[in-house]
Amino acid sequence: MLYSVTANAEYGDVVINNYSDDAGMRPVIFPHWFHRIRFRCKVCHADLGFKFKAGGNKINMLKIIDGEYCGACHNGEVAWSVENCILCHSAKPGTPTQVHESTISKLLTTAKKNKYKKNKPDVKKGGSKK
Ligand code: HEC
Ligand code: HEC
Ligand code: HEC
Repeated sequence: MLYSVTANAEYGDVVINNYSDDAGMRPVIFPHWFHRIRFRCKVCHADLGFKFKAGGNKINMLKIIDGEYCGACHNGEVAWSVENCILCHSAKPGTPTQVHESTISKLLTTAKKNKYKKNKPDVKKGGSKK
């Protein structure tokens, strides 16, 4: 019993799917470790009001665009902005809300993998500058 609850959000990924599937969006993967090494717990769990529970916050896009929750940072200033839908909505459809202790890649959709894998020959060969 104890062992079944040891998936640890501090080191894992939180899948958030209170509304996404129903709205026809892929569920959200929140990479907790990635964030927690950059910010103190307090920033999110006190100042921004994130409850310590996977799926325990009623997050929607209106709030995010209003600067609440993820939107406090994903606003094009602290971090890339909300128009990058699939960077957040990146889980396989139907993935339930959970803390997933393994690497994010197991949860990712092929769509996102493909995005990073776009090895299409580039027109400007040789120079990889952007
Ligand atoms: C910074 C992360 C992030 C980005 C970027 C993002 N979302 Fe979301 N979105 C969330 C989170 C978190 C939820 C809550 C997920 C849940 O509970 O299912 C959510 C929920 C939703 C929902 C269901 C709730 C609602 O508001 O109706 C829809 C639809 C949605 N997003 C669409 C989009 C679209 C379209 C884009 C791109 C224009 C987008 N999202 C970009 C994080 C993000
Ligand atoms: C950038 C924001 C952010 C930071 C920093 C952060 N967290 Fe979280 N944390 C979250 C979010 C988002 C969730 C998931 C909430 C949800 O699903 O609605 C979460 C969930 C959790 C959970 C609940 C997981 C579960 O089992 O349900 C715990 C525990 C937690 N965080 C602990 C911490 C600790 C400890 C720190 C600092 C070492 C920390 N967090 C730093 C955003 C953050
Ligand atoms: C306290 C600020 C903060 C909050 C709150 C926050 N993020 Fe982030 N997030 C960042 C920063 C900074 C980055 C790195 C951006 C960059 O590399 O340009 C990032 C990156 C990400 C990445 C990409 C990780 C990677 O491997 O490159 C995802 C996915 C993400 N955030 C999702 C979310 C979701 C979903 C939420 C809300 C549940 C959220 N973030 C809330 C600051 C935040």
